[in-house]
Amino acid sequence: MTKRTYRFSSAPVDVYFDANFRQLEKLVDKKKGIIITDENIFSAHHSKFKNWNVITLKPGEQFKIQATADSVIEQLIALEADRQSVLIGVGGGVVTDLTGYVASIYMRGIRFGFVPTSMLAMVDASIGGKNGIDVGEYKNMVGIIRQPSFLFYDSSLLSTLPEKEWSNGFAEIIKHACILDRPMFKLLESTSLDKLRKKKSLLDDIIRRNVHLKSGVVKRDEFEQGDRKLLNFGHTLGHALETQYELTHGQAVALGMIFAGWLSAKLLGYKDLNRLETTIATYGLPTRASFDVEKVFNVLKMDKKRVSKTMNYILLSRTGKGEIVQIPVEDLRGYLTEFNALK
Ligand SMILES: NC(=O)c1ccc[n+]([C@@H]2O[C@H](COP(=O)([O-])OP(=O)(O)OC[C@H]3O[C@@H](n4cnc5c(N)ncnc54)[C@H](O)[C@@H]3O)[C@@H](O)[C@H]2O)c1
Ligand SMILES: [Zn+2]
Repeated sequence: MTKRTYRFSSAPVDVYFDANFRQLEKLVDKKKGIIITDENIFSAHHSKFKNWNVITLKPGEQFKIQATADSVIEQLIALEADRQSVLIGVGGGVVTDLTGYVASIYMRGIRFGFVPTSMLAMVDASIGGKNGIDVGEYKNMVGIIRQPSFLFYDSSLLSTLPEKEWSNGFAEIIKHACILDRPMFKLLESTSLDKLRKKKSLLDDIIRRNVHLKSGVVKRDEFEQGDRKLLNFGHTLGHALETQYELTHGQAVALGMIFAGWLSAKLLGYKDLNRLETTIATYGLPTRASFDVEKVFNVLKMDKKRVSKTMNYILLSRTGKGEIVQIPVEDLRGYLTEFNALK
């Protein structure tokens, strides 16, 4: 187990890499710790939770809601949790987002940390301090930015991650490579999901690298005034597609990245669109899908990143270099139509 501390403006976060779940008790006294997890993770790893206080949630995004937070709060009261208690979210992004949220409001805020168990939570959701819940159809509508005290990485937990969840994480990893890390893009190009899953050292290396990349961006811009926007690469169209079609987050972001890559070639002379398509396909993600432009445009133009009549769109000047480009909202409709008509 190795420790590295990331100092954000609001608080430091201790990150433990190459850890083993058993070592968690070295960080948090079992009498003070309360684990929050979901039924899938609990049943896949039940022996690990022995002698810990555990609150188990129903799995799935549909439970990332206030009613679940209320039920957790009631269980915390029943467990007599107090200001010395530490909540530990052991799970995917749903569990970590909810745990951070509850910990931030219970008794006006108690300590919390995360043990991410999905690839997406390891490289994205658990990093950066955004915690919250969905309200009706509005994702992450209510929440708070507050850093966890620690992140604890045991990549052996991934052994039980369902097949289809892997590519969600890799969509974000490809995103990080595109906007910030050309060498990592080359590394991803040179290997595959299957190979990475079989080689723990390489997988650990990729996880560590992505934690470092995202933490660096967040550190420079904790409250999303500038650089943190780069992390939206692929997500503007991605979110719009995700709300309109039956796609996983990773699939939607993959399509969003292809559109952004295509637009980057058109507007910024980006030359690696073919490489981007090949890499996205290598990680089990789609590269083309036709969609209803009007329907998707109507959702897209309401995006949070819109500033009056222009949109801050994230494009690439080259692999490893994301750029924030202001695009008139009306132009986007034309670009989407042109893109949708390809092949
Ligand atoms: N806070 C942030 O900055 C941020 C960033 C990105 C995403 N998110 C949030 O993350 C959530 C998505 O995260 P996710 O993809 O991890 O979803 P998830 O938490 O729903 O996990 C996906 C599925 O995999 C299962 N699972 C997870 N780890 C497992 C393991 N090791 N073994 C067996 N099953 C396992 C879960 O039970 C679930 O069924 C969304 O709610 C999204 O809004 C937050
Ligand atoms: Zn995402």
